[in-house]
Amino acid sequence: TVVVLDCGSQYTQLIARRIRELEVYSQILPWDASAEEVLSLSPKGIVISGGPMSCVEEGSPKLDERILKSGIPLLGICYGMQLLAHQLGGQVVKAPSAEYGRSRVDLEGQDSTLLSGLPGSFTAWMSHWDQVEQVPPGTRVTARSESGAVAAFEGASGRISALQFHPEVAHTQGGMDIISNFLFKVCGCRRSWILSDWIDGAVEEIRRRVGDDTVICGLSGGVDSTVAAVLTSRAIGDRLKCIFVDNGLLRKDEARSVMETYSSLNLDVKMVDASHRFLSALEGVEEPERKRKVIGEVFVRVFEEEASSIPGAQWLLQGTLYPDVIESGHQGKGASVIKSHHNVGGLPDFMRLKVLEPLRDLFKDEVRRIGSLLGVPQGFIRRHPFPGPGLAVRCLGEVNRERLQVLREADHILQEELLASGLYDSLWQCFCVLLPVRSVGVMGDVRTYAETAVIRAVESQDGMTADWARLPYDLLDRVSRRICNEVRGVNRVVMDVTGKPPATIEWE
Ligand code: XMP
Repeated sequence: TVVVLDCGSQYTQLIARRIRELEVYSQILPWDASAEEVLSLSPKGIVISGGPMSCVEEGSPKLDERILKSGIPLLGICYGMQLLAHQLGGQVVKAPSAEYGRSRVDLEGQDSTLLSGLPGSFTAWMSHWDQVEQVPPGTRVTARSESGAVAAFEGASGRISALQFHPEVAHTQGGMDIISNFLFKVCGCRRSWILSDWIDGAVEEIRRRVGDDTVICGLSGGVDSTVAAVLTSRAIGDRLKCIFVDNGLLRKDEARSVMETYSSLNLDVKMVDASHRFLSALEGVEEPERKRKVIGEVFVRVFEEEASSIPGAQWLLQGTLYPDVIESGHQGKGASVIKSHHNVGGLPDFMRLKVLEPLRDLFKDEVRRIGSLLGVPQGFIRRHPFPGPGLAVRCLGEVNRERLQVLREADHILQEELLASGLYDSLWQCFCVLLPVRSVGVMGDVRTYAETAVIRAVESQDGMTADWARLPYDLLDRVSRRICNEVRGVNRVVMDVTGKPPATIEWE
């Protein structure tokens, strides 16, 4: 195991994922986890992440002295580098200006273990204000940025290494080589995080925990619940009973196509068409959080009714992933609730079922790869994330059958063209939003007065931050023409060119 101590960087999870991509298991703990907790994992190495604070300010994250003195190799990244410098007797100062974005880094000397194999000069991703003025005793500068600031330092024994830039970010050339040097040359890790082995272990573990019991599972049509179900059915066969609720807020043909996939995977699934219940509960509801709440409540009721018709179930299977576990563990550390995402689809502890969460140690990309290994079709695995409240939060204003139908058709055209363009997989999400904003148009000499469809396309690593995607004009043109021609109820197509932040990915 390599432990990543989180000082609040948006890249912390990315660091942990990169380590796992190199087949070394990594775990994230908050920076103030006790030394006992950290050391009890017997980590081969500890990475200290970036963070938004300045380490010379009061109340900023600090490392427990026992971790510093443990003899375990430490790698500080960005804030983590400043923290190591500060706590080990170097000096950190506020720089006259921030360095942000791509920057050139030049190696100093040739004897760095961490940077071995890198060219003498390379491009790296920087994002910092403070800088290290003086490196701690016993360490030396191994690289500088173009402004002359310390970009990397390391100790003679290899126990201390530090980088001002972000090796985990794709914009840093050779970033994976640096992480690999840390894991294999500095820490002496072995490649032991192999997903096919993980499957065997997980199947055993499910069998052991569940015994002869029956497990129920709510399938959402998404990758996580599907992979959790396929894995569990591999362990206990048809003692896994699945329920798929059609809430009437799904995309075009979605209910039919996910049911086909489930049946090809030999899952025992009951489909419940509850669309009328959801849509009537949503009548007159326009406020986004209220929509989520109503949908969550109806879902729980429907699921409860269906589940109670399965006699003797003792377990509830959930597709919880590692990021959800980390986020709930970190709750109360200053993160504000922007949207109440994560309780939709989650269930309160009714019926006193025991919870089975076989994917709780995994990142999304690992779940996708495990799904492939388990035979879940590629087309299903690569689908973009889709929110639990579905089209309700993409149909701004009133949610009714007619408007949902308009949105479905417009979105379907966008998906078709996107797949045909070959760009689908390069995007995190791409979808239509329907606005209750009517404008005047003209079609075949006839005046129209109809609503507006928005194209929302984003690139992202994890949905936490996102950039709007620069879709080619000819693709946008085809989508716009087709939507206006083929979808009654829309006469104007616009494109959202806002990042996250300041916007969110969804419009509600
Ligand atoms: P935002 O809109 O907050 O979305 O930038 C980030 C990611 O979360 C998805 N999302 C949701 N998922 N229930 C969900 O299960 C929700 O209520 C919900 N709202 C947003 C969104 O699609 C994006 O991937």
